[in-house]
This record gives sequence, C-alpha cells and structure tokens, in this order.
Amino acid sequence: MTDQVDEPADPRSRTDGLGWVSRAVFPDRRVALTVGAPAPAGHRTMARYAVVPSLARARFLVPLGSPRAGAASLLAYNALRPPKVRAVRAAIGGLVRLGLLGLAPFPTLTVSAPAEVPATEVLLAERLATALGGAPLLAAVGVRPPDPNHKPTLQLFSGDGSPRGYAKIGWNPATRALVTAEAAALRALPAVAGATDHPVPPGLLAELTWADQVVAVIEPLPPGVRGVSAHDPPRVAALLAVARRGGSGTPPRPLAGSTFLARLTAQAQRAAATVPSGARAVAAVEALAQRHGATDVEFGHWHGDWVPWNLGEDSGRLVAWDWEHSGPDVPVGFDLAHDTFQRALLLRGEPAATAADAVDSCLARYGDRLGLSPAQRQVVADGYLVELWLRTWRLASGGAGWNAALHPALLDLVEKRHSG
Ligand SMILES: Nc1ncnc2c1ncn2[C@@H]1O[C@H](COP(=O)(O)OP(=O)(O)O)[C@@H](O)[C@H]1O
Ligand SMILES: [Mg+2]
Repeated sequence: MTDQVDEPADPRSRTDGLGWVSRAVFPDRRVALTVGAPAPAGHRTMARYAVVPSLARARFLVPLGSPRAGAASLLAYNALRPPKVRAVRAAIGGLVRLGLLGLAPFPTLTVSAPAEVPATEVLLAERLATALGGAPLLAAVGVRPPDPNHKPTLQLFSGDGSPRGYAKIGWNPATRALVTAEAAALRALPAVAGATDHPVPPGLLAELTWADQVVAVIEPLPPGVRGVSAHDPPRVAALLAVARRGGSGTPPRPLAGSTFLARLTAQAQRAAATVPSGARAVAAVEALAQRHGATDVEFGHWHGDWVPWNLGEDSGRLVAWDWEHSGPDVPVGFDLAHDTFQRALLLRGEPAATAADAVDSCLARYGDRLGLSPAQRQVVADGYLVELWLRTWRLASGGAGWNAALHPALLDLVEKRHSG
C-alpha cells in the first residue's frame, strides 16, 4: 500500500491509468495536482480526493469534503457491479460514510489553482455544475488502464449524496465521436421511448465542449436499477421496439441500393485505403450484395451494443444505457445478432466462428418474432459480421490495436460463409 517516495509529484506525468485520467479531467496546466502535500503557495484548494486503493493501483478518486457524496460514489449502482468489486466498494464506502476516509491509508490528491483563477474556467466539475443549474457538485472519477477507445467518466453527486449525472469525456478523435454519437442518440430517444416495449434510456442532461473535449452528461440511472442476468433469454420485444422506434416498422426494401449497403461499401473502401486487410472487407461487402442484393430487408435503428451488461431492470421496466454505437438504417435484428455474438464471445469465451453459429441458431429460434424469413436471417447474420469487422477496424484505427478475437477471424468467417 505504501507509495514510493520517488513517484512523480504530479499524477498527470504518470504513464498509467491515473496519469491518463488525470490529464483528461485536469487538462489545464494552471491547475496544480499534489499528492500527499498541500496546495502550492498562492494557490486555492478547489477539491480533494482519496486515491483508492493506492497511487500505484488507483481504481477511483473519491471526493473528500462530503462524506455522503463520497460514500454514495462508492455505493451507488453497486448492484450493477461484479460481487468482488461490490464488496470492496461497500467496505470502503462504509468507512467514507463514517467520515473515516481521511484516516484510512489512502493518499490524498489536492487540486488547486492560483487564487485569482476562477474554478469554472479550469475545473471540469465546476463547468458541469454550472451546466446542470449551478448547485455545487462533487465528482468521483473512475480510473481504468489507458485505452484510446475508453472514456474517463465522472459520477456527479450533490453534497447530500444524491446522484446528479454521469459524465463521459471524449478526449481523442475516437472517443469524441462515441460521446457525440451517444449524446445525439439520447437527445432523439425521448420522442420514441414511451412506446410499448421500448426500453427506458437515461436522458441527456448536457453536452459541452471543453478544452478540446466533448463531454456528455447523462441522467443518473434509476437508483434501484438491477442488471439483467447474462443468462436471460434475449429481450426480443424490446430490441424490436428500438429497431422500429416504437412504431410498426417500415416496409422491406431490397438490400441492393439501400443506405445500409452504401455505408458498408464506403466504410470498407475507407478501411482498404488504410489497412491491407481492408480489401478483404470490400470483397466481403461485394459478396454480401451479390448474394443477398435482391432480398427484401426491413431496416431500422439499433442500440448498437445491446448486451446484458448495458441493460437493467427497474420496477419491472427494462432500462438500456450505453447508446454510443446506436444508429439508423441497419437490418432489423442486428441487436439480437450482437447480443448473441457478444455473450458467446465474452461470457463463454468462444471463438468468433462458434459465436457466429450461435447467431444463426438464435435467429432461427427468434427470427419469426422479428418477422424474418430464412433469407432475411442470413442478411442479418452476414451483414452483422461485416459490420462488426468494420467496427473492429475503426477501434483499431483509433490506436487501440486489433482485437485479436475478431481480426482476422471475422474476415475468414465471412469469406467462408459466402463460399459455402
Ligand atoms: N447514467 C448513468 N448513471 C449511473 N451509472 C451509469 C450511467 N451510465 C453508465 N453507468 C455505469 O457505468 C458503466 C459504464 O457505462 P457505459 O455507458 O456502459 O459505458 P462504456 O461501457 O462504454 O464504458 C455502466 O455499466 C454503469 O454501471
Ligand atoms: Mg457499457
């Protein structure tokens, strides 16, 4: 637990997750960050955080100054977390609630700026407090390993511990695009989310640009929300309501000439211009068009990352968050394919080929409820695999490197399916 004495004084100079997150949250160099030391002379302290559990293994920054908000930042939404994480957070949250965190063996991070610099100019949490109406807010900061596709997040609380918002920070081109997309999706959803079977999305409270960043502040999830079980059957009616925007759907149109096919073609060509394997994606899209061009397909929206860990239940209603990948004009059934594929890949650790087989079986089982004929099911499965490769390429081109479970496996798979 003890931190080495030769740790760099300013966490922003670190190469680990704490360095990455603190650079994103405190980009203004007029702000001083000191660990285990008071603010520099002439500075005003603006916030203090416990670095939990240690500098070297930091997982979260817990705001000090309001035991209730600090405790809430550890205890809120614990039902959504894995049991081990939940236990650790509950234990520390108990300490915080009793006001004992200052006594606990966690280093303290002090955030300060020259006395004449207004906090709203240099501190994101202050800017967000203004955007949400002006009441003071405390921010708990999650720390994850640096990743070009991840967004640092702030959980915002008022002093009494009530959740006020969840802020996602887009800090590079890849994450700015994701945050912008999620804000746009959340802005449009209230118009359709009241429809029968449509899941409840959180609202968008604010979207702002700040220090080259795009920040979306999302309404807190309902306090009683529980994650859905990873073993539940897929929520077919709910994902169909998402696809149809709460309406009755649009008449099927041929795949050939569709906006969907045009987008896949354009993206594959862009991939081909940047990576050698992009040529295989171009060929895969051509094969898809050749094979299924005449098939009539119902197009609709999708959530884009419909998986049990982005879904919850509250008072009998399904809640869906994480709309970063959502968009229009995909074959209805894409969310079902994604749910099935990701559960196989990530929960059961199956290879991509086995996960694709699971998609086929799932579409055979539930396709009727989506109004899908056997030919349409093939468009959904084959189209989804190409779409997923394109997403994998986009994430890789954001600087994250290739997801080894998906590349080149998806291309191999698509080629095999088209030659079969
Ligand atoms: N509006 C919110 N209120 C409270 N907690 C949230 C909210 N949105 C997300 N979370 C929590 O943070 C986790 C990660 O957020 P999510 O939107 O899924 O982003 P990503 O998975 O892309 O990092 C969620 O699984 C949930 O536990
Ligand atoms: Mg998520």
